[in-house]
Amino acid sequence: MQGVANMILGRSDEPALPDQGFAGSRPLISVENVGKTFQTASGERIEALEDVNFTVADGEFISIVGASGCGKSTLLRMIAGLGKASRGRLLISGKTILGPSADVGVVFQNATLLPWLTLRENVRLPLRVGSFRVDASGKVQDLLSMVGLSTFANAYPYELSGGMQQRAAICRALVRDPKVLILDEPFGALDALTREHMNLEMQKIWLSSRKTVLMLTHSISEAIFLGDRVIVMSPRPGRIILDQRIDVPRPRNFQDTVGHPEYLRLTREVRTLLMKGSSV
Ligand SMILES: Nc1ncnc2c1ncn2[C@@H]1O[C@H](COP(=O)(O)OP(=O)(O)OP(=O)(O)O)[C@@H](O)[C@H]1O
Ligand SMILES: [Mg+2]
Repeated sequence: MQGVANMILGRSDEPALPDQGFAGSRPLISVENVGKTFQTASGERIEALEDVNFTVADGEFISIVGASGCGKSTLLRMIAGLGKASRGRLLISGKTILGPSADVGVVFQNATLLPWLTLRENVRLPLRVGSFRVDASGKVQDLLSMVGLSTFANAYPYELSGGMQQRAAICRALVRDPKVLILDEPFGALDALTREHMNLEMQKIWLSSRKTVLMLTHSISEAIFLGDRVIVMSPRPGRIILDQRIDVPRPRNFQDTVGHPEYLRLTREVRTLLMKGSSV
């Protein structure tokens, strides 16, 4: 929980390593030969991830899909600085990730807003620690406007729908202007219609904020609707079995996108891969 609290508050307890000296075109995120082995309380070894390699360019939207338990959250937690790799290394802007930092904002499946704070106070929370003690009421209001919640700034979480709470959680993750936004099943708890609406909202947020996004989802259609690339992982130990560019024009809408030949082809390919994996 401490790690999650640190992430929400954007605390970094450890300094970043010096720049690794990559060339100008270096990726924003590099995951190199990463593996993760957990040791359970009973002493059993769980091989969660094996030999994971990929890079992410600044501004890309990456969707990650894979069977439950294949190590997706473990991987994104490491990119968020909330867990350490057993093997390999992870870098942001050429620097080894050593702990949570203001470079990365995270949104979890449930909005995790604090019930005793208003929306405005919840979104402002990461700015109220350490050197970030600044009056950012303008910034908070801009973010709430971007997601259509400006008139709800003084409302409490219980007064909002699930989709509204999730939009507020995205604002909170963006308030310190991180380079990377990590979304771990952000719309999994929403009904199908609200989820489609949130997919359109998410595209709008990404197009206007131009953040680098890494999103985990169990929905193949959501992954391909939103992503520039889709990464498919094998069952545990998770490995990358497909890393594919999604060449469907933006901005995307459901009417045109779900009938686009590339969307249909990729949806079929990803579903086939996931079904093969689940029958192993
Ligand atoms: N702290 C831990 N200690 C021991 N095992 C762990 C720990 N965290 C995760 N695991 C194991 O690592 C594997 C991967 O877990 P992870 O949460 O990354 O999966 P996931 O792909 O995100 O699954 P889901 O789609 O269900 O969220 C699982 O087998 C899980 O039991
Ligand atoms: Mg998970």
